Amino acid sequence: MSDLVMESGAERSEQGGSAELRKQGRTLEGKAALVTGASRGLGAALARELARRGAKVVLVARGKEELEAVAAGIRASGGEAHALPADVGDKGATYAIAGAAAALVGPVDILVHNASTLGPTPLRLLLDTECEDLERALEVNVVGPFRLTKAIAGAMALRGGGLVLHVSSDAATNAYPGWGAYGVSKAALDHLSRSWAAELEGTGVRFLSVDPGEMNTRMHADAVPDADPATLADPAEVAAKIAALIAGAEAPASGARLEASSLGGAS
Ligand SMILES: NC(=O)c1ccc[n+]([C@@H]2O[C@H](COP(=O)([O-])OP(=O)(O)OC[C@H]3O[C@@H](n4cnc5c(N)ncnc54)[C@H](OP(=O)(O)O)[C@@H]3O)[C@@H](O)[C@H]2O)c1
Repeated sequence: MSDLVMESGAERSEQGGSAELRKQGRTLEGKAALVTGASRGLGAALARELARRGAKVVLVARGKEELEAVAAGIRASGGEAHALPADVGDKGATYAIAGAAAALVGPVDILVHNASTLGPTPLRLLLDTECEDLERALEVNVVGPFRLTKAIAGAMALRGGGLVLHVSSDAATNAYPGWGAYGVSKAALDHLSRSWAAELEGTGVRFLSVDPGEMNTRMHADAVPDADPATLADPAEVAAKIAALIAGAEAPASGARLEASSLGGAS
């Protein structure tokens, strides 16, 4: 069993190198994973990667069509995936997401808070930021993850294990002009991760924060439209590293903040 989430060597259909993963004891066979922001970019890639490792995955995002297409793609490759269209910034959706996920795949073992908003684009300086736009960034990027963890981590603690992974950003630690609302929300998300870790120490529930680095996604294009995509990471490669971290035997301390660029290989 990994220190992060339990692993099992149970047999499953061959899918994208799963035999090799099994040989290495790095599958997520039978684990239940919930990934927010899974309709494109890093979240979609992570959902695919977790499913490839044998996890039953629930995908959340607002856009139903895009989300269902990703889930259908995973199923077509032999994985288990369910689309759950919802807005993580909507308080009323919290228990619906948690309840539906448990009904679809069983108690959630791996919760990935990946959905995020930049706030209005083009990005603007704080003096030009509406208070409501800061509120919305905090609602989606911090309060939503807090609510969903509250709805799920208690059951994880009762079962004595689970992993909650927060997708952060370098804007959490660097004050880039124009990135204020987003950066404030990501700094708060990092600290939320550390605070959960401190409070749930000894329960078996672990919390991590991962900065994925700059990736070629819609969010990046919205934020920096003139960036050269060739200079940006492929979200699939970043997702492979994060999935390896989740499934791996090396367990960083709960509460740790990691950078995907310094994570090891993606096997
Ligand atoms: N791309 C980068 O360079 C970069 C750098 C550092 C950190 N990150 C972080 O990496 C994560 C993934 O970003 P990405 O670049 O992959 O972005 P992306 O391609 O724009 O994908 C964002 C995902 O989040 C969903 N989403 C947005 N608001 C939501 C809401 N209120 N409720 C539910 N789902 C919502 C989107 O679907 P809907 O719009 O349909 O809801 C989409 O599935 C984010 O946490 C981001 O902050 C990205």
